[in-house]
Amino acid sequence: MIDAAAIASRFLDTGLQVHPDVVRYIQEQDNPELIDRIIAGVPTDTIVVSAKHIPGMTTTRDGMRFLTDPTVEIVSGSPGTSGSINGTEDYLHYFRDRFSRLGTMIRNRCTTMPIEGLVRSPRYRQEECSVIGMVSEVKTTTNGHRIAEIEDTTANLSVLFRKDRPVFSDAERLIMDEVIGVRGKLSQDGKLFFAEQMFRPDIRIDNKPFLSETPGKAVLISDVHVGSDTFLEDAWNRFVEWIPDSGASYLLIAGDLVDGIGVYPGQDQELTIKNIYEQYDAFGELLSGIPKRIKIIVAPGNHDVVRGAEPQPVIPAQFTKKFPENCMLVENPALVNLQGVRVLMYHGRSIDDMIGLIPGASYDQSGKMMEEMLQRRHLAPAYGRRTPIAAGKSDRLIIDPLPEILHTGHVHIRGITQYRGVLGINAGTWQSQTAFQKQMNVNPTPAQAVMVDLQTLVPETYTFL
Ligand SMILES: [Fe+2]
Repeated sequence: MIDAAAIASRFLDTGLQVHPDVVRYIQEQDNPELIDRIIAGVPTDTIVVSAKHIPGMTTTRDGMRFLTDPTVEIVSGSPGTSGSINGTEDYLHYFRDRFSRLGTMIRNRCTTMPIEGLVRSPRYRQEECSVIGMVSEVKTTTNGHRIAEIEDTTANLSVLFRKDRPVFSDAERLIMDEVIGVRGKLSQDGKLFFAEQMFRPDIRIDNKPFLSETPGKAVLISDVHVGSDTFLEDAWNRFVEWIPDSGASYLLIAGDLVDGIGVYPGQDQELTIKNIYEQYDAFGELLSGIPKRIKIIVAPGNHDVVRGAEPQPVIPAQFTKKFPENCMLVENPALVNLQGVRVLMYHGRSIDDMIGLIPGASYDQSGKMMEEMLQRRHLAPAYGRRTPIAAGKSDRLIIDPLPEILHTGHVHIRGITQYRGVLGINAGTWQSQTAFQKQMNVNPTPAQAVMVDLQTLVPETYTFL
């Protein structure tokens, strides 16, 4: 395998800087001649070599995803599709589905073999090869290296990531139950695999988003928390006054519509509305001030009345009687198509888990957490932690197909990111700092809305405090 530093220095020798995505691509292709071919083809005024300079790589999208009537299509996450939990049988299906679909994404980028084939035969010892597995355990050795247990459908394997190798930075961010590919060599005794490179299902570097052909704007918000004594009603009213002239045709709300009842100990002390039906009635009334021509798409979050296990079903009809007619209910997560632009709405509870598992991750960087999801092509990679997952027959939390926009919330801190053609927006909250957040030193960014132009995918933030 070609060393990343060696690739960068080859470019530097000719006065060029190189984007890390290109370095990784060259490593994946494992073809040293590719460097010369790229260098030969770059225009003379180039400073940084990016994906568009790779021969044969085109980052232009030809064609549009037409959708004019109706303008909103629920691609996945329609009411009634979340399914029920059927014990261990589904649980096995769930993990097989996760492994096979994410494994296929990795297999498109490297040639792999089954773990059993590698371990059983002495033929492959000390030979460079690649395998794919789901991470079942990760630990740090006394010398500071990382060891991961990975398994496929045939066997399991201990993989060592040495701290002095470039692959270590990828290994530091390993999360249980994510699916990875590793390239390296098996030890002579067949017991330990020395990894030199790691592949995540990740987005291809030539990914380019679809854009709307016709004008249209979507406003993204989250975590309204109606019923809480920290809900910012005045700010909300200013938002409702602003939206008719904003040019928006869509309003997307990514969960925690209300504060709920009994979500955390002592919550009743912080509620202005102590009845769950009345909380949803109040939420419906707040939406009623929004013009009927604006389509409102509403998904649940962990404070809402539905089951906590994801995918979460839509808010049941007995709670939505006061919701206006222009309101469309979707599950969490849901993929919606707005004029050809796909938005993946996910409340974002797994961000808590990822912050706990990824070194250096923090609540202030909710955008970074969306990148971690996209690299793993999964909304909630770690199973059995704070994010309850309803293990159905298929894994609905896999990010496939790729959206143009990933819309999350939950952490109450706005974050925007651009990652390989996908726009990530964590939409903040409509609740000021709670006593719990104060204790945890979490500083929310309340009363903000992010508007996205569907023809350009340029986001703009508006504040209503
Ligand atoms: Fe929330």
